[in-house]
Amino acid sequence: MTKPQIWIAAFLTLFIVLFMLQKLTEEKDVPNKPNMVLKSEPEKEVTPEGLISSLGCVTCHGGDLSGTSNGPSLKNIKQYWSRDNLINYLRNPQANMNGDRFTEYKKRFPNFLMPSFGNVDVKKLGKIADYLLK
Ligand code: HEC
Repeated sequence: MTKPQIWIAAFLTLFIVLFMLQKLTEEKDVPNKPNMVLKSEPEKEVTPEGLISSLGCVTCHGGDLSGTSNGPSLKNIKQYWSRDNLINYLRNPQANMNGDRFTEYKKRFPNFLMPSFGNVDVKKLGKIADYLLK
C-alpha cells in the first residue's frame, strides 16, 4: 500500500468505528427516552379542606371548624355572607366586619384577630368561600 492509501484506510476505519460507537450509544439511550420527555405536571387538585388546614385556619377555628378559644365557629356563617363579601372579608377582615357578632367576637377573643389573607390567590379564597357557604 502507498502512503495515501494507508491514510485513506485509516480514515475509513476511524469512520466505521465512530459510526458503530454512535449506533451503540444511541441504542443505549432508547430505554431512557420516554423518561426524558418533559411532561407538564397536572396541577395538583387542592381541596378546600386542604387549604383550610394549610393556611392555618384550623388553629383558631378548630379542626372541625366549630370554633376554639382563639376564634369563632365557622359552621353556620352562610346566613351572614354572600360569596363575594366573604372573599373580601378573608382578604381584609378588619375592613369588612359586618354585623353585631363582631362586637361579641372582640370580647370573646380579645387576644386574637382574624388575620388577613390578601396574599392568597383569590381562586383559592373562592374555593374556601364555596366550602364555608355550602
Ligand atoms: C389567629 C387566629 C385565626 C386564624 C389563623 C384564622 N382566623 Fe378566622 N377569625 C379569627 C377570629 C378571632 C375571628 C373573629 C373576628 C375577629 O376578632 O377578628 C375570626 C373570624 C372569621 C370569620 C367570620 C366569622 C363570622 O361569624 O362571620 C371567618 C369567615 C373566618 N374567620 C374564616 C377564616 C379562614 C377561612 C381562615 C383561614 C384561611 C381563618 N379564619 C384563619 C381568628 C382566626
